[in-house]
Amino acid sequence: MASKEYGVFLPIGNGGWMISETAPHPEATYAYNRRVAVEAEQIGLDFIMSMAKWKGFGGTTDHWGQTLESMTMMSALAEATSTVKIWATMHANIHHPAVAAKMFTTLQDVSGGRAGMNIVNGSYADEFQQMGLWDAELSHADRYRMTEEWTQAVGRLWTEDVVTMKSDFFTLDACESRPHPAARPTIISAGRSAAGRDFQAKYADGAFLSADNLDQMREFSRYVHDKGASHGREVKTYSMLTVVLDETDAKAEAKAARYGEGLDKEALIGMRTSWGIPADTARAWADGATGSEAFQTPYVTGGPQKVIEHIEQITAEAELDGLMLIFPDYHADMLPFGEAVLPALRGKS
Ligand SMILES: Cc1cc2nc3c(=O)[nH]c(=O)nc-3n(C[C@H](O)[C@H](O)[C@H](O)COP(=O)(O)O)c2cc1C
Repeated sequence: MASKEYGVFLPIGNGGWMISETAPHPEATYAYNRRVAVEAEQIGLDFIMSMAKWKGFGGTTDHWGQTLESMTMMSALAEATSTVKIWATMHANIHHPAVAAKMFTTLQDVSGGRAGMNIVNGSYADEFQQMGLWDAELSHADRYRMTEEWTQAVGRLWTEDVVTMKSDFFTLDACESRPHPAARPTIISAGRSAAGRDFQAKYADGAFLSADNLDQMREFSRYVHDKGASHGREVKTYSMLTVVLDETDAKAEAKAARYGEGLDKEALIGMRTSWGIPADTARAWADGATGSEAFQTPYVTGGPQKVIEHIEQITAEAELDGLMLIFPDYHADMLPFGEAVLPALRGKS
């Protein structure tokens, strides 16, 4: 079986992926992210990825109230690194495909062929309402149709000298975008819906899956693998995992419990309302939320052996090709992960 790929989700937004007053609070600065990227390469991770986020969730931690822009940051990180894959996020709803195509041709050149484009629809109204760029008429299915046309336009601009295209959402009139990338940038997609998985199977090289449990994750992973294959394509599947690592299981659990104590409920409400959940429903849910909600993704707590076993188990059971990792305190946590966990996952311990 091919070896698994591991990468890191960069903390491009303040607070990283912990919504808590008692968790470490990564800064949304280039200096912080640069160090994470360099360490990711140093310990032998395969990719670094950043999200694109335009509005935060408030609360006492001002969660993601500060974010850097993904493409600009990743372009700089391409210079700061030399082997790790560089995956940046692009919103199809706000960047014209001709602009995006050229940005990624440039990133592919800057990075020496390491560029990946995480294509997102732009699903969260508040981020775009504040810019006057939210089209409330578009349904979820319409947004995927728009993203599909966008992806086709970008693909053509990367390979054809002159593109004319009149679709429902985009017009290209003898549009030129040279040079073409020496190799097509990797396409990544992180949809969660059935439409998202169909998009992944048809266009993506890498699909980020989220599911309610491991059985469902395996079902989604199989679907994307098989549907991709029916289109004659290989699509790799990934999920996310936050790692709370310490010397012993007990120490790691105590650390996770401490992070949970300072849960920022206001920010949790802000996050859910931004997903479109009514404020009173979000507030009622947050009232009952426990410390584990401080983690935005599934997480593992433990000493090295427990973390190794957990990662091997979930990637095998859910038939995933890799994981994108999150660390509460990237600077403190990543090097120990690289020393005590990653070699075993690579079969080198
Ligand atoms: C790993 C991962 C990264 C994501 N990155 C972004 C992002 O940078 N910007 C964004 O607006 N949405 C992002 N999303 C949200 C997805 O694009 C998508 O809207 C969400 O998963 C809902 O899926 P659906 O569109 O299929 O309903 C991300 C999701 C995941 C799982």
